[in-house]
Amino acid sequence: MAGKLPGRVEQVARDTLAGLPARDTDLFLARLRRWWPDLAEGLAGPYGGRYDLDELLVELTGLLAARYAERPEELKLLDLERSVRPDWLQDPSMLGYVAYADRFGGTITGVGEHLGYLADLGVRYLHLMPLLEPRPGDSDGGYAVRDYRAVDPRLGSMGELEELAAHLRARGMSLCIDLVLNHTAAEHDWAMAAKAGDQAAQAMYLTYPDRAEPDAYERTLPEVFPDFAPGNFTWVPEMERWVWTTFNRFQWDLNWANPRVFREFADVLLHLANRGVEILRLDAVAFMWKRLGTNCQNQPEVHDLLQALRACARIVAPAIGFKAEAIVSPSELVFYLGVGRHHGRVSDLAYHNSLMVQFWSALATRDTRMATRVLGRFPTKPATAAWATYIRCHDDIGWAIMDEDAAAVGWNGWSHRRFLAGFYAGLHPGSFAKGAIFQDNPVTGDQRSSGTLASLAGLEQALELGDERLVDMAVRRILLGHALIFGWDGLPLLYMGDELGLRNDGGFADDPDHAGDNRWLHRPAMDWAAAERRHERGTAEQRIFDGIKALAQARTRTPHLHAATPAEVVDLGQPRLLAFVRRHPLGPLLAVHNLTETHQPTGSGALDLVGPDPQPVDRITGQKVPVGWEGLWLEPYQTVWLTAP
Ligand code: GLC
Repeated sequence: MAGKLPGRVEQVARDTLAGLPARDTDLFLARLRRWWPDLAEGLAGPYGGRYDLDELLVELTGLLAARYAERPEELKLLDLERSVRPDWLQDPSMLGYVAYADRFGGTITGVGEHLGYLADLGVRYLHLMPLLEPRPGDSDGGYAVRDYRAVDPRLGSMGELEELAAHLRARGMSLCIDLVLNHTAAEHDWAMAAKAGDQAAQAMYLTYPDRAEPDAYERTLPEVFPDFAPGNFTWVPEMERWVWTTFNRFQWDLNWANPRVFREFADVLLHLANRGVEILRLDAVAFMWKRLGTNCQNQPEVHDLLQALRACARIVAPAIGFKAEAIVSPSELVFYLGVGRHHGRVSDLAYHNSLMVQFWSALATRDTRMATRVLGRFPTKPATAAWATYIRCHDDIGWAIMDEDAAAVGWNGWSHRRFLAGFYAGLHPGSFAKGAIFQDNPVTGDQRSSGTLASLAGLEQALELGDERLVDMAVRRILLGHALIFGWDGLPLLYMGDELGLRNDGGFADDPDHAGDNRWLHRPAMDWAAAERRHERGTAEQRIFDGIKALAQARTRTPHLHAATPAEVVDLGQPRLLAFVRRHPLGPLLAVHNLTETHQPTGSGALDLVGPDPQPVDRITGQKVPVGWEGLWLEPYQTVWLTAP
């Protein structure tokens, strides 16, 4: 039996679990022993030397045991199932769907009425956008939480969420919700108490009596929302102090250097897990730890904290998965899946922002050289984790392209980023896109992009022009994007409405709480009439929906796509194609994507990567492909997944 627990820890666990059958207690203690090093080492980073760690660990053990004692039997069974299938999130049959509960089904219960629709697509994981009780008025799409233990009353109740989780589970779908770790709403109980002068509550946040420290930090801090929330600190007159606010003025950054913050969030996390939530999307985690003289992102303590939270989950509720939302550079990103001493000990999933950015960049330029370079050098993730791959989401697209990567293909980084923002806002002659510029920063010249997948990919413009050929091209671009994220070593996430080609919601500005934030352009309400058109042959809805569904089915049938097998980008020497190999024990799979609206040959050498058979099979269509002296010719925007027959 590995590891021994400190005597007091074991005693606290046994005392708390006294009423449970001996087997349950044994199981808890086995897990506590197994994950003890992760917990103790994780806490030592941020709290060691400043707090009594032994005391903290004893206190936490009591908390973990109490939450374990409450865990419903059905979920304990799920814990066991997941222990024998630890790679459940990496399986090629996994497909995620991301939706706003209100915009998809009206309410939490309403969402439950559309599970047949999701099952039809092949969805196995449903992320409902922030649904915990937000502050009133503008809440940054729910990312300003007032009460982590209550559901937004406009959407329903915690009981209804529990019911939905159970319905999903019965259909083999997992519920994912957001847990905002970096900040609370300025209306959260702690913030209210802080404003009323409560010192302990003030210590939950980062507050300052004057500008000295804020100014010192500002020297190296970037701005997330320079347009509508400039700066990183907000003056709170009731408290007569500045408070750290990375995002909006009403989102107060938490002080994770205070172990009480850790304790409270461990408790909330397990409380949600016990309601049947299976995946937690850990929002804005990069910002959790601050260090003077840095950009206050990706500090080592963030990974320690996430490791310790992960250990809490593994001890009490091992069925659940962690998805890190850290939109950071590739070299920093891979730490969220665990590097070095954190290897395999942090999140199961992390958003692959670069894949999304490189896709849109290559689509605009019809040039894959930079994508091949950047994705080819991408750090390898641990084999036990998966990328969360996506082509669009609820956020803007930040053109995260490094100057040196642009320079390597002969472009100026700044100009290229500006070009992309302009292209996707439809400002360039010849652009197929109809989006908008988000957060135009006059100081840095930085611009980001808003717009739905369909509008950015050309469908909106094509339908307006009534040009069938352009509609066809837009549909192909949409399917190409999905093929790319379905073939990568990850778990693909569909963003609500993209499966039907929903266009921009131009009416977003009518809502005063949304008017200032054009990310609402790409957060339209679900159009159920459009969903019905998926049954009418030849409509854009039908072609996109069926195309995505066919890709999902092909993916499920293709074991090579298990996320433990890395996607290795290969340079075919053909700057219009993006290719990668998945070297699986069953043999290699070569994925090739044509990023242009013209036919493109792979070249003959490419096929050698698949093996000696002269006629490989495309796993998407299930058909053998014709190979000539120039290799295989790809149709406009076509993807193939080639393997030996
Ligand atoms: C994440 C969310 C984004 C939100 C921010 C602050 O980046 O995706 O929508 O504005 O966190 O919570």
